[in-house]
Amino acid sequence: PINERVDDLVSRMTLEEKIGQMSQIERANATPGVIQKYFVGSVLSGGGSVPSEKATASTWQKMITQMQKAALKTRLGIPIIYGIDAVHGNNNVYNATIFPHNVGLGATRDPTLVKRIGEATASEARATGIPYTFAPCVAVCRDPRWGRCYESYSEDTRLVQQMTSNMVTGLQGDVPAKHPKGAPYVGGSKKVAGCAKHFVGDGGTRGGINENNTVLSFHDLMRIHMPPYDTAVIKGIASVMISYSSWNGVKMHENRFLVTDTLKKKMDFRGFVITDWQAVDRITNPPHRHYYHSIQETIHAGIDMVMIPYDYPEFVADLAAQVKKGQVSLDRVNDAVSRILRVKFAMGLFEDPLPDPRLAKELGAQEHRKVAREAVRKSLVLLKNGKKGKPVLPLPKKAKKVLVAGSHAHNLGYQCGGWTATWQGQSGNNFTGVGKTILEAIKSAVDNSTTVEYSEEPDKATIEKAGDYEYAVVAVGEAPYAETAGDNQNLTIPAPGAKVIKEVCGLVKCVVLVVSGRPLVVEPYVDYMDALVAAWLPGTEGQGVTDVLFGDYGFSGKLPRTWFKSVDQLPVNVGDKHYDPLFPFGFGLSTKGTSQD
Ligand code: IFM
Repeated sequence: PINERVDDLVSRMTLEEKIGQMSQIERANATPGVIQKYFVGSVLSGGGSVPSEKATASTWQKMITQMQKAALKTRLGIPIIYGIDAVHGNNNVYNATIFPHNVGLGATRDPTLVKRIGEATASEARATGIPYTFAPCVAVCRDPRWGRCYESYSEDTRLVQQMTSNMVTGLQGDVPAKHPKGAPYVGGSKKVAGCAKHFVGDGGTRGGINENNTVLSFHDLMRIHMPPYDTAVIKGIASVMISYSSWNGVKMHENRFLVTDTLKKKMDFRGFVITDWQAVDRITNPPHRHYYHSIQETIHAGIDMVMIPYDYPEFVADLAAQVKKGQVSLDRVNDAVSRILRVKFAMGLFEDPLPDPRLAKELGAQEHRKVAREAVRKSLVLLKNGKKGKPVLPLPKKAKKVLVAGSHAHNLGYQCGGWTATWQGQSGNNFTGVGKTILEAIKSAVDNSTTVEYSEEPDKATIEKAGDYEYAVVAVGEAPYAETAGDNQNLTIPAPGAKVIKEVCGLVKCVVLVVSGRPLVVEPYVDYMDALVAAWLPGTEGQGVTDVLFGDYGFSGKLPRTWFKSVDQLPVNVGDKHYDPLFPFGFGLSTKGTSQD
């Protein structure tokens, strides 16, 4: 019946209404007047575009309700679908639970947990009235120099597939047994439509440079980067976002062979394909330099929804002209609109278009924060524990005096990374109403009799003067970033991280936490350290870190990526011929905990 409803509706739509469905515009433009004039099909909050800085769930709900009511008053009353990057929880919203970024989830090796994170993310998105997320990122990151490495579960295709399968199911619900292959599935008004991104080969670009060229044979592209899309399609993924990158010199946004012939026809994907942000503007391959031609190329390649997000009047006018002149076929437009409507029908948007105020309480719910804490403790990878066979972890809770140091010990924004509150992330502790920094978590974990002293950058003289620290916890890492801003050819620990490690670890028994979305150069400092832990980007629940540091739970995380010795080795991935990393893929020491999940 969904297909019949789709066909019926499409048969009654004007060209303008169809092109409106294909348009996704930015929240700031989406006034009721614009929604009605252009028959807008979708609205997004681009990174950082929030109704107000500390907007509550009900502020969000009201905003979306207003937009939706405008859409419902149009001639055919087709609801909009509102999308957001809820990529580690509903991370754009004040008071939301922020989960570890995907690289940390890869380290948990726990797909069931990942499904629960998907479920919690769906309910925190619905709490704010949002029915659609641009997640999961199913990139197979083959080079940690890439600024989106932390959004990738792993360098290993199979591990990415496993996590993709469970994240899609968590977000969208379990596909029923007889569901037609490739048809979108979203299990009702508590689930959200997902988006597998960025199709395809985004994690394989040369030098780890974002939006660059992925140079691979078709065979290797299919072997390394395509399988997670197969998985997502089988799990009923609602949409697929196209990558800014190119494959062998051809921009993915104009690659009809991969988008239409492969994804839609061969793999039988029946949801909709969406562009990345302003991607039409970025198709600059000569001779198609003009925006008009870029639209034509994109739609011809098989794109269904265009994230414009500001130039919608031009897009609408250009595409309408192209259809009238026969430069873009009406069949192609009908296919695009049918796919978008299929998702809207499948997810029950026509029946339940408005945010549900009863769900608002799900934002930052205790249950979700418990899941996030569990994810943190399972994501931590213990890389070194003690010198000369004498383990230092778990740490004693009862100690006279301990030192906590480093740029990442008391900075929740750093702990969460990019795509938190804003696109590029945050610095400091005031952007969310929930969570604990690592320092705060340490203070609440240790015995009352233990004095915890904190200094971001303690110098030698101060440490020597204090003299009697039983141990130190040093947390260093990268400041937050997203997308191209995170591309980095050096991958050194940002200053003064290395200095702090040397000075503290030279004088005090020390545990070093690398709080980072990717491996960094640590080889020169490992000998100084008594213990080394990869903490990834754990999110708001710092207590997950102390759960394992103090032995309430054991360390169990395994490296989802190869930890290189030096950047000259990059790219280096498990299975390479001359594989000689500092710590191999899959490595991770374990400790015993007093409790178990
Ligand atoms: O979903 C994102 C994408 O991953 C990168 N560019 C912007 C999109 C929308 O915010």
